[in-house]
Amino acid sequence: MNNNPFSLINKTILVTGSSSGIGASVAIECSKLGAKLIITGRDLDNLNKTYKELHGLGHIQVIADLNKDEDIKALVSEIPEIDGIVHSAGILGTIPFGFITKGKIDEIFAINFASPILLSKNLLKYNKLKKNSSIVWISSIAGNLITSSGSSLYGASKSAINGIAKGMALELASKKIRVNVVSPGVIKTNIFNSGIISDNDLNMEVVKYPLKRFGNPEEVAFGVIYFLSNASSWTTGSCLTIDGGYTLL
Ligand SMILES: NC(=O)c1ccc[n+]([C@@H]2O[C@H](COP(=O)([O-])OP(=O)(O)OC[C@H]3O[C@@H](n4cnc5c(N)ncnc54)[C@H](OP(=O)(O)O)[C@@H]3O)[C@@H](O)[C@H]2O)c1
Repeated sequence: MNNNPFSLINKTILVTGSSSGIGASVAIECSKLGAKLIITGRDLDNLNKTYKELHGLGHIQVIADLNKDEDIKALVSEIPEIDGIVHSAGILGTIPFGFITKGKIDEIFAINFASPILLSKNLLKYNKLKKNSSIVWISSIAGNLITSSGSSLYGASKSAINGIAKGMALELASKKIRVNVVSPGVIKTNIFNSGIISDNDLNMEVVKYPLKRFGNPEEVAFGVIYFLSNASSWTTGSCLTIDGGYTLL
């Protein structure tokens, strides 16, 4: 008998963006708590790296570009019924407001907002989400609680997530499906190694955190696990901020 309310034994969890960063960490930490994982991303080498770090047996990996409808449909048809999904796939994209184009709006909103909606919708349509399953969105403090120069579009895509998650939580409650959001501050992942944000800017940023450091992906994963597990069985439509105290100031 397992008395740990955070246990994920007998749960199958789909994690998008699990070839890297927060998604990879979520998948690995979920496997340590007994979950069977379905990991997905576009980069096969990186997905293989995550797969090798998963604990336990019976995990599945699926290559999919979630901006492509046919890949979403193939992913949904290939997988068994699941107990939870974590929408972690996303892109950063800093751009001054005056340089925003229709193309840039489409690019950022496609993967950060539209794809996870369509994936969730298809999972529901083909009855792949079990009763009592849990949907977790990785949003951000950007757009919801703070902003910075160049992040208006990214922030808008993240505040859109918080909006749709509330509506989903209400509409899916009748199916006993819960929907919650995790909003991290800056987490040390590839999203920040891409050169989009300079080392100088990052050094100026880190001192603004009351806990005086950026977060680690595992520290987001532990919040996600709360929402995936039975520990949060009466929690839906809520948002957990994980930001080292940044938004206190
Ligand atoms: N890092 C932070 O400070 C931070 C803070 C707040 C929120 N977030 C959010 O956390 C989430 C994960 O970010 P991260 O830092 O872990 O970034 P990351 O390391 O760059 O990982 C991004 C993931 O998204 C996947 N992805 C991107 N476009 C895709 C597409 N078209 N189809 C399928 N997968 C796609 C990537 O897969 P491939 O590489 O295989 O294509 C990768 O696995 C994002 O939604 C981000 O906005 C991050």
